[in-house]
Amino acid sequence: MKAIQVGLIGLGTVGAGTFHVLQRNQAEIRGRAGRGIEIAMVSARNAERAKAYQAIVGDGVPCVGDAQQLVNNPAIDIVVELIGGIEPARSLVLQAIANGKHVVTANKALLAVHGTEIFEAAREKGVVVAFEAAVAGGIPIIKALREGLTANRIEWIAGIINGTTNFILSEMRGKGLDFATVLKEAQRLGYAESDPTFDIEGVDAAHKLTLMSAIAFGVPVQFDKAHVEGISSLQATDIKYAEQLGYRIKLLGITRRRMDGNGVPAGTSGIELRVHPTLIPSSRLIANVEGAMNAVVVQADAVGTTLYYGKGAGAEPTASAVVADLVDVTRLHTADPDHRVPHLAFQPDAMSDTPILEMADVHTAFYLRLVVADQPGVLSRITTILAEHDISIDAVLQRESGEGERQTDLIILTHDTVEGRMNEALAKMQGLPTVLAPIVRIRKEELA
Ligand code: HSE
Repeated sequence: MKAIQVGLIGLGTVGAGTFHVLQRNQAEIRGRAGRGIEIAMVSARNAERAKAYQAIVGDGVPCVGDAQQLVNNPAIDIVVELIGGIEPARSLVLQAIANGKHVVTANKALLAVHGTEIFEAAREKGVVVAFEAAVAGGIPIIKALREGLTANRIEWIAGIINGTTNFILSEMRGKGLDFATVLKEAQRLGYAESDPTFDIEGVDAAHKLTLMSAIAFGVPVQFDKAHVEGISSLQATDIKYAEQLGYRIKLLGITRRRMDGNGVPAGTSGIELRVHPTLIPSSRLIANVEGAMNAVVVQADAVGTTLYYGKGAGAEPTASAVVADLVDVTRLHTADPDHRVPHLAFQPDAMSDTPILEMADVHTAFYLRLVVADQPGVLSRITTILAEHDISIDAVLQRESGEGERQTDLIILTHDTVEGRMNEALAKMQGLPTVLAPIVRIRKEELA
């Protein structure tokens, strides 16, 4: 059978990786896909890069500057979009779909924000939009959630899905350094971008979490409802205290379905969708994922707990996911669209309208650090406020004050509570004259 024809938009790190993996493993890939997968055209805006690749691929594979030429090329069956960002990626993807082409993309931001529009357009045209590379790079987590775990009711997912921030947190813990110092080092080593905002403020992780949540629970992608909090204000002190209490701090993306019944009060069901620094017990496998690695834990009713670990970025790990999608699409190219795996795992008429919960309705435990006057009655006033809000304490740690020192750090771990209740308690505690600085609050999950 004639090889399937691919148009590759973007010759950056992942584009180049995809090109190399396809070339190097072409015999095995053909054996698995049932036909060859050939790059028929590439597009790159960077003229230097385009020239360098033209030299490698030869004149048989045209390299164009305008990607419109590629998405409108009738010879191309699958468009691979690897430029990232919203525009022009959105217009190019929609144009490719309108032209009846399948799309493979690594673009988490595009799908997390415009997924509903893009999947609907693809459904109407009977084409596939595949996006394994958009979440956790080389880890086949989309495949696992959408197909491998399809027998299960998924209960929750918790993931380290941003390598840059995990690298920074690992260095902060390992070397006792502060955030700003480690960020500079991460930029020097090429782990963090010169503008690291999307990574360090949790936006990149929230894009990926939004996609996993939609697939796990059969809800539309709703990035605008995600709670997004990064690590830029995390202090080395809290990493140290957490460690003393048997916890590590990780930037986790957490999505959990809470349904009425089973201890969940009527009217409070919904889906939690949140990215924030989180204390997790050091004994959990995921707590020991260090450096730029990614890992995702999935809790599901039949299989129990499963853990997926690997490289979440980089040329060939991400290319591994892109090429896997290319093989999938190639196998499905001639299949009846109704018999393909749905984009978001559930058939369009089986999608759910379960709401995404407000952060105030989320159930979680907390780590609190209070700088307090070291005098009688301080602890009891604080514990009284927590008790009045029905918040149960799990552990308390007080730093030993130095000679003549009149203030100290008080660390409190709580059991699970409702975030809104904790917000009220925090406001009351902050108002005490013996609480001398803004209270640090970090969420805590046992992931049991
Ligand atoms: N910048 C991301 C990370 C990789 O640090 O994990 C691409 O999403």
